[in-house]
Amino acid sequence: MGLLGGSSNRLSLFAIRVILPIIVIVYLGSEIRRKYHRYPDEEKVITRDCKPDVVAITDDSGEDAMNEMVSVAFNGDKHVTAMKQEMLREQMQIGRLRCNCPEPPVWLQPVNKRRIVEGKKWEHEKKKRLEPLSVCKAMSPFNYIGGGITVDPYQTVPIIGLSLHPIVDQMLPNLNTDITLQIASVRKLGKPRLSKLITPMMLANHVISGEKTFELRINLKQNIELLKRILNNNILYSSDNYELDARDKLQITLLNFTADIYVRIRREPLPDLYDPGERNSVIDKVTVITKTFERPDVIEQFVASVHKYYPNITIIIADDSEFPKPIKKDNVKYFVMPFREGSFPGRNLALSQVRTKYVVFLDDDMYFTNNTNLEIMMEKLEDPNIDMDINCGEVKNLGILKGLRHIGYNDTQGYCNLGPFFPRNNIVPGYPQCVWGEMFMFFFMAKTAVLRKIGAYPQIVQAAHEEAWIDTIGKAKSAFCGDSSVYHVHGKNAKYEGFRKESKSVLFSDPIALFENNMCYWWSFYEFPKTGKSLKIKSPLN
Ligand SMILES: *[C@@H]1O[C@H](CO)[C@@H](O)[C@H](O)[C@H]1NC(C)=O
Ligand SMILES: *[C@@H]1O[C@H](CO)[C@@H](O)[C@H](O)[C@H]1NC(C)=O
Ligand SMILES: *[C@@H]1O[C@H](CO)[C@@H](O)[C@H](O)[C@H]1NC(C)=O
Ligand SMILES: *[C@@H]1O[C@H](CO)[C@@H](O)[C@H](O)[C@H]1NC(C)=O
Repeated sequence: MGLLGGSSNRLSLFAIRVILPIIVIVYLGSEIRRKYHRYPDEEKVITRDCKPDVVAITDDSGEDAMNEMVSVAFNGDKHVTAMKQEMLREQMQIGRLRCNCPEPPVWLQPVNKRRIVEGKKWEHEKKKRLEPLSVCKAMSPFNYIGGGITVDPYQTVPIIGLSLHPIVDQMLPNLNTDITLQIASVRKLGKPRLSKLITPMMLANHVISGEKTFELRINLKQNIELLKRILNNNILYSSDNYELDARDKLQITLLNFTADIYVRIRREPLPDLYDPGERNSVIDKVTVITKTFERPDVIEQFVASVHKYYPNITIIIADDSEFPKPIKKDNVKYFVMPFREGSFPGRNLALSQVRTKYVVFLDDDMYFTNNTNLEIMMEKLEDPNIDMDINCGEVKNLGILKGLRHIGYNDTQGYCNLGPFFPRNNIVPGYPQCVWGEMFMFFFMAKTAVLRKIGAYPQIVQAAHEEAWIDTIGKAKSAFCGDSSVYHVHGKNAKYEGFRKESKSVLFSDPIALFENNMCYWWSFYEFPKTGKSLKIKSPLN
């Protein structure tokens, strides 16, 4: 205990009673093994399962047990992550929402097959971007950061956060053992090296191998000062590959302990900023867009209502009627499309023309009123504390939709849209009139940059509501707030109603959203395929 010196009072009782003996035992064991070479066949011991059961072994067992302990504690760890990552991930998936996929109707089966093939390719891409499980082993002789170190492609980052455990620091001078430090890039996306602050002079008496390779090895003999200096931000990682978002695994081996450190290689995207204009007013920061079809009187009323409450605000209209009657007015941009080009293509066209930071979308048969408050909607999108991307208002005379979506997954056949659920804690912090959700009525203000990235799937040509909201899942944070509203009047005429009826039946004969979202089942007002039963698989956890 004497070797702890003056700092022993700062160490907790636990450290002295538990950690120290273990480290001493392990080191002695390591030294004994080095001297007697009783286990030359390293591979043999590596294959055993690595469990932190060193603590359980008591001191009566002599050299064999000691050797075994050392093997288990140190050598096995090189295999932990590689072998167990997959297994650990599987354990994590147990609580995930799963579903049984219904048999698709015969006419859909060829498309279904293609969907599953495309879905597998997508899953494969997704796997590459998985957050790695950073397994932190027990009883490390040094401190390290498991994840969070980030570097741009072809740039360099110091491996921060490395330092000797204080007890090891105290003990090391008394061990009279050579220290080797090894740093290896497992995925070979970059190379480890030392910073220039470690000069050739400092390294003169030490053997370095693997410079400019994926595995650097330094024999520091007994130079503890140099070791500490190297650990102190002087190990560098230089990315050597073009990747937008990938993870390399650095393995640092010191004192026969190997730690995994994940380095994220990330090409940081630049922002999409919009100039708010000198006045910082809604007129300069917001554009109103809509898509219209065969309802000229409806769209005229729409424009009048918007400009009544927000004169000079830019309105963008996409129209795929057979004989469109473009509105010629200041601050109205009217885009004529091919006949029956479709609902989502129209939204995309209008959205592509927006030049302001925010965009308001609503259907053409909704009208602004004295309760339509764009300022209050914008205020929430600008609140940095809540990160709201889409702020939905109320659509009077149409009802209110709320809730999140249950998305189940099936191991072999893709996802299932299992309908809504209503979490308890869904109030937007600071806005008691707002609730988070994933599907509302179609009147909202959104951040233009976010909405553009989501876009609208142009294969969906019929009037589509739920499909558009499903597309926002995981891509935007949406909330409903009752403090701004528009008014809905269903505008009818014979031609429009005819097409509308037709498009409703299309939903059943061409469920394109199933393909887009890699889904085998779509809960909705129109369940598809019809099953009439719950497809949810019970979780074994609750
Ligand atoms: C680490 O293990 C190797 C053999 O596996 C041994 O030669 C070396 O001395 C050990 N180093 C320390 C610091 O225990
Ligand atoms: C709208 O634009 C016209 C012409 O540029 C201008 O005279 C008028 O003051 C503007 N109105 C508002 C409310 O900004
Ligand atoms: C808003 O409009 C409604 C209906 O036109 C009217 O009854 C109400 O008084 C208006 N409210 C305000 C604050 O102007
Ligand atoms: C997927 O769906 C099939 C067909 O309904 C079912 O047999 C299987 O159990 C499901 N797989 C899961 C739970 O991932």
